[in-house]
Amino acid sequence: MEIEFCGIKMKNPTVLASGILGVNAELLKRVAREGAGAVTMKSIGPKEKQGHSNPTVLEWEHGLINAVGLPSPGYKNMENEFKQLEDCESPVIVSIYGASIEEFEKVTEGIVGYEPSIIEINISCPNTKKEGQIFGCNAETAAEVVEAVNKIAGKIKVMPKLTPQANNIAEIARSCEKAGANAICAINTLGPGMLIDADARKPVLANKFGGVSGPAIKPIALRCVYQIYEAVSIPILGMGGITNGTDAIEMMMAGATAVGMGTATHYRGINAFKLVADEMQHWMKEHNVENIGELVGVVHD
Ligand SMILES: Cc1cc2nc3c(=O)[nH]c(=O)nc-3n(C[C@H](O)[C@H](O)[C@H](O)COP(=O)(O)O)c2cc1C
Repeated sequence: MEIEFCGIKMKNPTVLASGILGVNAELLKRVAREGAGAVTMKSIGPKEKQGHSNPTVLEWEHGLINAVGLPSPGYKNMENEFKQLEDCESPVIVSIYGASIEEFEKVTEGIVGYEPSIIEINISCPNTKKEGQIFGCNAETAAEVVEAVNKIAGKIKVMPKLTPQANNIAEIARSCEKAGANAICAINTLGPGMLIDADARKPVLANKFGGVSGPAIKPIALRCVYQIYEAVSIPILGMGGITNGTDAIEMMMAGATAVGMGTATHYRGINAFKLVADEMQHWMKEHNVENIGELVGVVHD
């Protein structure tokens, strides 16, 4: 089920989403061996940074809630991991974050020499704000970040990751495309959300609020990808609540060329990518679909 995503060949459309399995090269390589079409590292920032206190990730009835707080080894401490990833059998996507355009530039300069297949620009995390606002909530600032990273990235593809919190996600995507983005990734977690432990009379996360992921956000992710598809002509990496092959097919029908999964690894293990790819193939066989690409965007009028 090979696909091409902004010029990058992938053995199947499934992608490990950022942040789920950290930055450890051995683990990322294992996920690639176990079947992921591409793997994304946890977002890397300008300096070494501690995350929030525990508990940071909790399961609830319809997914996960997390306030990990973007803990990062910082791009300067990543040489070893990048070297080890050179023989990863699937393309490697490096996710970066910064709290200012200058920080995004600094991190891009620090990692560009390792030549990842794609640089994912995390402008959708509540921790990457400009004057209190998430970069990805404003079309102008989103474009500024994309343009700045793109200048340094050279031939390496750049893909901003958008937030469902934007009032008009299609406008943000369009603005990123104009600024030189080669693809769009959507969506990051939705939030902030909150869970309360009634017995303890307390919020369950140490940080009180966190991002919501998994099945609960699938309808929102589908709507976002649908709207982005109508607005741009670059490919979309769609994610948010994909747990099985049918979810993945639905995401492609909304307009995604490739599909990311994070929370699914919590339910189905790191084998989730092979399982979902097999389920997609099974669906295609049952519905006489020969080429998965035929399904991209089919629900649009
Ligand atoms: C524990 C956890 C950590 C995450 N860390 C990051 C991160 O560092 N950078 C990022 O762009 N997204 C991060 N995400 C968001 C995921 O990459 C993904 O966009 C989101 O979880 C929706 O997909 P899912 O429903 O398949 O999990 C994280 C999600 C979770 C659950």
